[in-house]
This record gives sequence, structure tokens and C-alpha cells, in this order.
Amino acid sequence: MIDCSLTPIGSDLKGKTAIVTGGATGIGKAIAMSLAAHGVRIAIADLNPGEARTTAAQLGKEASAFGLDVSKRASVEKTFAEIEKTLGSYDILIANAGVSTMNRAIDITDEEWDFNFSVNIKGVFLTNQAAVRYFLKANKKGVIVNTASLAAKVGAPLLAHYSASKFAVLGWTQALAREVAPQGIRVNALCPGFVKTSMQEREVAWEAKLRGLSSEQVIKEYVSQTPLGRLEEPEDVAGLAVFLCSDAARFMTGQGINVTGGVYMG
Ligand SMILES: NC(=O)c1ccc[n+]([C@@H]2O[C@H](COP(=O)([O-])OP(=O)(O)OC[C@H]3O[C@@H](n4cnc5c(N)ncnc54)[C@H](O)[C@@H]3O)[C@@H](O)[C@H]2O)c1
Repeated sequence: MIDCSLTPIGSDLKGKTAIVTGGATGIGKAIAMSLAAHGVRIAIADLNPGEARTTAAQLGKEASAFGLDVSKRASVEKTFAEIEKTLGSYDILIANAGVSTMNRAIDITDEEWDFNFSVNIKGVFLTNQAAVRYFLKANKKGVIVNTASLAAKVGAPLLAHYSASKFAVLGWTQALAREVAPQGIRVNALCPGFVKTSMQEREVAWEAKLRGLSSEQVIKEYVSQTPLGRLEEPEDVAGLAVFLCSDAARFMTGQGINVTGGVYMG
């Protein structure tokens, strides 16, 4: 039995290495910064290598940046092998890269559907698979945290394709968690709400146009749906990611944890 009653949450993370996909901006960047503050060496892996380098530079000399398209198997396999070679090993994958577009369900195009699914769930599948293969090869009890969404728990209007892709993230997370639990690998997901990032800026503009509202009215609605009474900050999500990666969550796997300010309480 481990007595960790006096151990601060996250103190066991010092010296570990994490890959953060979509870590150049927004929620991924906040998670990378929080993990780095707990002594984790960070590999930012992002579609935008320039922005990834800027973020890695902000994190300090221990951090590094890699170009990656999570939706392409060849890119994932090449980049994960490069990270393993450059950093020697890794212990944590934060599969956070995601995209959205907004449209009425009856107007969603094949292109929009494929774009959301290729990044949001195929990207989670490919990166999780690469990490698990490595953890098994290296005999590591690795940790995976997938970024799902509030829209993975309740269908989100104008985001039916995005919602479907995020529900799939939770299905994948549960199934993979069951398969790799015997090897001590944990797989969980986090479900943020209305988070102030560039993704939200794009969504507010789309929603305002589709519903004939002003951007201010859309934001007001997001806040009014949030019992804690404000928009979510990327940093509000980061603490949960640190917890899920840490030994404090050692008996948790296959979970999709809400961090929404109370928007969804199920
Ligand atoms: N902002 C929100 O309100 C909100 C709510 C719930 C869940 N999420 C989820 O959180 C995650 C991060 O979203 P965010 O709001 O920080 O978005 P963001 O657009 O601010 O950042 C997303 C990052 O992912 C990168 N990216 C996009 N496509 C990629 C690809 N194919 N391969 C690698 N990297 C790629 C982008 O370059 C960017 O750095 C996403 O999975 C999103 O679905 C966001």
C-alpha cells in the first residue's frame, strides 16, 4: 500500500517526459506549461511548427518542438520515432490536437465531416496507438490523456459532426483503457466546456452568423449556461491534466472527466 497522504499532487511527475499534441496554443499550451512547472520535460508536437517552437522556447531549454499532423499515420509514426530518438524516452501522451467547424446538421458537408473526424478521432487513434506500442516495447506504465469535450457528453447544436467525433474519443478511451490496464497503462480523457482559445473565437463568429446574433450575445449565452459564471480559461483545464498524469490518479482509467464550470454535471 502506498501512503501518499502527505505527497503534493504532481510531485511524482518531476523528471518525466510528455508529448503534447496541439501544444502550441490554447488548452494544449496551458497543459504543457503546467506539466513543465511540475518538472516534466515537454515535446510540443503541432501542425504549426513555428508556433510550436515559440511555445517550446517559452517553456525553457528542456522543451522541444516537432511538426506533426495527427491525422496522418506516416507523420505520427515519423514524429513519434523522432521524439523517442531525440529525447531517449517518454512517459506521457497528451492527445489534445483538435479542430472544429460549425454548421447546421442538414448542411454539413462531407469535407467538414471528414476534417473533424480525421483530426479529432483518427488523430487520437493514431497517436494513442503509437504511444501504446512504445510503452509496451519499453515496458513502461505510461499515461495517456485525450482531450474530449463537453460535446462528448451532450450533443452540441451546430456541432453535430464535432460532437460525434468527440463521443467517439470517449468510446476509444474506454476500450483502449480496458485493453492496456493489465500492462499498467492508464488512459483517460478530459471534457472541457466553453474555453477561451482561438477555437472558441472561430466558433463564436460562426455561431453568431448562423444564428443571426452578435458575438457578444453568443458569449453571454455561454456564460449564462455556466454555473460558475464565466468563460473557462485554458489554465482551468491544465490542473486536471496534471492530476490525471500523476500518481494521485493511479487507480483511474477509462474516465472522461468534466471540467466545465458546471455546464454539464452528469
Ligand atoms: N476551446 C474550447 O472551448 C474547447 C472545448 C472542449 C474541447 N476542446 C478541445 O480542446 C483541444 C484544444 O483546443 P483549443 O481550444 O486549444 O484549440 P486551438 O485551435 O486554440 O488549438 C489547437 C491546436 O491544435 C493544433 N492542430 C490542429 N490540427 C492539428 C493536426 N492535424 N495535427 C497536429 N496539431 C494540430 C493547432 O495547430 C493548434 O495549435 C481540441 O481537441 C478541442 O476540440 C476545446
